[in-house]
Amino acid sequence: MEYISERIKCVDASGIRKIWQMAARMTDPVNFSIGEPDFPAPEAVKAAAVEAINADKNGYTLTTGIDSLRDVLTQLITNQFDWLNPYILITCGVSGALQLSFMATINPGDEVLIPDPYFVIYRHMVNLLGGKCVCIDTYPDFKLDAWTIEENITPKTKFLIINSPSNPSGTVYSSEELQAVATVARKHNLLILSDEIYCDFSYDGPAFSIAQYYENTIIMRGFSKAYGIPGWRLGYMAVPEHLGDLFDRMVALQQYTFVCAPHPFQIAAVTALQCDISPQIAAYRKKRDLIYNGLKDTFGLVRPEGAFYAFVPAPGGNATEFVMAAIKNNVLIIPGSVFSERDSHFRISYATEDERIQTGIDRLCALVEKGW
Ligand SMILES: Cc1ncc(COP(=O)(O)O)c(C=O)c1O
Repeated sequence: MEYISERIKCVDASGIRKIWQMAARMTDPVNFSIGEPDFPAPEAVKAAAVEAINADKNGYTLTTGIDSLRDVLTQLITNQFDWLNPYILITCGVSGALQLSFMATINPGDEVLIPDPYFVIYRHMVNLLGGKCVCIDTYPDFKLDAWTIEENITPKTKFLIINSPSNPSGTVYSSEELQAVATVARKHNLLILSDEIYCDFSYDGPAFSIAQYYENTIIMRGFSKAYGIPGWRLGYMAVPEHLGDLFDRMVALQQYTFVCAPHPFQIAAVTALQCDISPQIAAYRKKRDLIYNGLKDTFGLVRPEGAFYAFVPAPGGNATEFVMAAIKNNVLIIPGSVFSERDSHFRISYATEDERIQTGIDRLCALVEKGW
């Protein structure tokens, strides 16, 4: 008797598991693998969560989330975009938003356009639902090319996912790139899912949203990264009024899956949105400079402009081999094949102390100098 579904067999996590097994044997590792900020949650946010728990705000909420948080987010979205009455759904992280939106849209055989390199969940979620990933290669500069996107649109295309600032490349798309994509999307009446979880982490200017230029866009944002609370599982989706039917389907799905996002943390999220996180962002800009200046001469990487990742060409062109050598030298990095159809780059998460970043840079550069 086979207990395991055919569906789940599409999800292959063996590559990354091998890396973790090797990492378990490391001594004094520089850990460049963690996709979460190293700063703590603001005190006021923690206090608001504790207060909510002590005030017995521990029951279920409405499926869509608490009104006080949804009201603030509605205001935020209407202020930023020309959307009249956006629908807001509070989700269990952006991961929850991705799951709901993918499940509510993808039929078996549908094609999903994914700029490559991409955030891992996209590929596995599409495969799980019987969809087909159509990867749009963006190497070597990770820019979004509207014409390549258009070339890949077929009658089976369901949506395009955009993630800016990006994990794993740290790229922030310019307004020109996004406007060109919006023109193509409008021509084909394409749905766009915009994963903006890193929208606060943009170091050289604002992070533009495709929603500024295109109306068939679902915005997904989260609290995990900006407020140092990834374990709280909190995010949201903003859906334009004319996509109300799709919104209702996603609410129905949340009702029968996640039920609701954690109640006390929804209350604390209202406080989070009032916090000034510019000191944290300034500190991360410094980390970006440190990693880029430290690696550019030896590795020739593209300058990351946002999030907290650098996607670095592997010396010799085989990332998995270089990652194995780096792990033996106590630097934990992730091979590009986890995020891409290629295995030519490796990902660094520089969300760690400056002194550890410098140690990691020194170890990686020494490895190249000695011909690893
Ligand atoms: C691009 C991107 N989207 C979504 C997520 C999911 O974040 P969460 O579910 O914690 O909101 C992550 C987390 O690493 C991410 O990098």
